[in-house]
Amino acid sequence: MSTTPPTTLPAHPRHAILRVVPMPADANVHGDVFGGWIMSQVDIAGSIPAARRAAGRVATIAVNAFTFKQPVFVGDLLSIYADIIKVGTTSVTVAVEVYAERQRLEFEIVKVTEATLTYVATDEQRRRRPLPPA
Ligand SMILES: CC(C)(COP(=O)(O)OP(=O)(O)OC[C@H]1O[C@@H](n2cnc3c(N)ncnc32)[C@H](O)[C@@H]1OP(=O)(O)O)[C@@H](O)C(=O)NCCC(=O)NCCS
Repeated sequence: MSTTPPTTLPAHPRHAILRVVPMPADANVHGDVFGGWIMSQVDIAGSIPAARRAAGRVATIAVNAFTFKQPVFVGDLLSIYADIIKVGTTSVTVAVEVYAERQRLEFEIVKVTEATLTYVATDEQRRRRPLPPA
């Protein structure tokens, strides 16, 4: 009798910009993953498409929204997706989604976090600069 193995890929057809596994050092006092660690991963992930669009350095100017929808556990495989949703004169706004793939009571893939961040293209003196043409 053959059994169908669980799907190991996110039910998400897009390409994850970042995949990372939190370690025990990333946990809070309760043993779950510290929200600040997740926020830093989201900031890193969001900066990747922003820096590509800016063709150079960017600085995070705002975290417009951030929702922790489900807890993250040490050992989860996180897949982070980041999509540009708005482009201004100097700024790029990115929507970020985090999915966790884990095996606890059963195998599951859950959306754990969603956020929107804005990055500003900066020059060597850390001043804002216009985005290059698309
Ligand atoms: C990034 C920085 C150089 C921008 O300079 P600034 O004079 O403040 O820039 P502005 O007020 O002109 O805003 C720049 C862009 O950001 C946008 N912006 C400003 N505040 C925003 C906010 N709260 N939410 C979303 N977008 C915002 C503006 O609309 C503008 O976009 P546009 O040019 O596409 O229209 C400056 O704010 C800075 O150095 N900030 C610190 C960055 C940093 O260190 N980040 C890491 C945090 S630890």
